[in-house]
Amino acid sequence: MEKILLVDDDEMSLMVTEMVLTEMKYEVKSVMCGKDCIESLKSDNYDLLLLDVELGDTNGIRLLEQIREDPDIKDTRTVFLTVSSQREDLSEAVRLGALDFIRKPALPEQLLRSVRDALSISEKETILAVDDEPMNLMATEEIFGIRYNVRTAGSGEEALEEIERERPDLVLLDLHMPGMDGLEVMSHIRDIEGGENLPVIFLTADDDADTEAEIFKAGAMDFIRKPFVMQVALQRIRHVLQLKHLQDSMQEEVDRKTEAITENNRKIRNLSRQVIMALAGTIDAKDTYTNGHSNRVAEYAHEIAVRMGKSEQEKLEIYSVALLHDVGKIGIPLSIINKPGKLTDEEFEEIKSHTVRGYDILKTISEMPELSTGARWHHERYDGKGYPDRKSGEDIPEVARIICVADCYDAMSSDRSYRKALPQDVVRSEIENNKGTQFDPKIADIMLQMIDEDKDYQMRGDTDGR
Ligand SMILES: [Fe+2]
Repeated sequence: MEKILLVDDDEMSLMVTEMVLTEMKYEVKSVMCGKDCIESLKSDNYDLLLLDVELGDTNGIRLLEQIREDPDIKDTRTVFLTVSSQREDLSEAVRLGALDFIRKPALPEQLLRSVRDALSISEKETILAVDDEPMNLMATEEIFGIRYNVRTAGSGEEALEEIERERPDLVLLDLHMPGMDGLEVMSHIRDIEGGENLPVIFLTADDDADTEAEIFKAGAMDFIRKPFVMQVALQRIRHVLQLKHLQDSMQEEVDRKTEAITENNRKIRNLSRQVIMALAGTIDAKDTYTNGHSNRVAEYAHEIAVRMGKSEQEKLEIYSVALLHDVGKIGIPLSIINKPGKLTDEEFEEIKSHTVRGYDILKTISEMPELSTGARWHHERYDGKGYPDRKSGEDIPEVARIICVADCYDAMSSDRSYRKALPQDVVRSEIENNKGTQFDPKIADIMLQMIDEDKDYQMRGDTDGR
């Protein structure tokens, strides 16, 4: 429960105010003089001081001055209660950082609104008042200064400089000014970085529907007609600022949620990648002679994708698909996979079935359907003489055509159960000779380029996975 210290030397007014606040569940302590006020502030913590300007033993303004000088209680949030509306009191109250000025006798809802607002303020908001009439600016400072930090500008140009220098929370903009008028200033404000959401309220003496329409069309959040009634003007400013706060906090919430979703997506992507790596690891572990084959094929396929100008997302997909291209070998007996000698026809058929087996395993991963395409068609040939479906040319999914070249390069450039790695020039001419028959010619050319750049035949086996 928030605690309020109420200071008023009028017994009746004290009683009524206390009753209204207590009814609204505030904890209220009432005192009737300046001395008791200081003592209370020093002996207990209060969230708000409601201070009458006219006190018997002192004046509320002098008392606040005294409070501001005392290091223990100088930050006390204060709202004035008064029957007078003397300008000098208002300016002094502003200077001393009072948050509001409530005219007595105040209606309960007026009192509560002001108390609630004062309690919710963490820092005074800043208003930039723009008017070519110095008298108007002075009056604005006096009237709104009680509640806000008021900065002033005497012309449109000056206003834009002020906004560039330090962004206010709201702009009070005179419509008619010599030189740059309010509407022109407004359009320039929208061009300033961060100015597109700056709340602007127009001040105008005009009283016609066309002007109103023009003001709102320009993007103003409200307008106040001159000469204005202080309470009404304050209310309108308060509403606009509340709306802006609401918009800002909604935007913050959206940003927070978006960030959380992005982080979640990143985790899911990482998890998928780790699962794919682990699965690829199980295939390579089974085939002792070609250990690391899946990783190397994925590296070569990735490099081909880079040289084809693929996007980040595509490169990552091609890498993952290539990692799992031989996953179907999980279902092939070890004795066949690791057989040192020549395979029988039946054994070869069994080996060939790893494509369809792999496809059947991976097609269940519906979130990444392309995973299964690499497994099924990486042994298809460009001329249509491959397996398992004898697809040809561009009918073979591109990722499978890439893996085909990468796979054959690794098969030739690494030791196998039945032979050592082939020399680089033999590997090169094999790829060159099978361009357009076994391999997609464009992809084969990229592989040839990679081989030619690899002067010392370092590329083979030179991977440690990613
Ligand atoms: Fe394969």
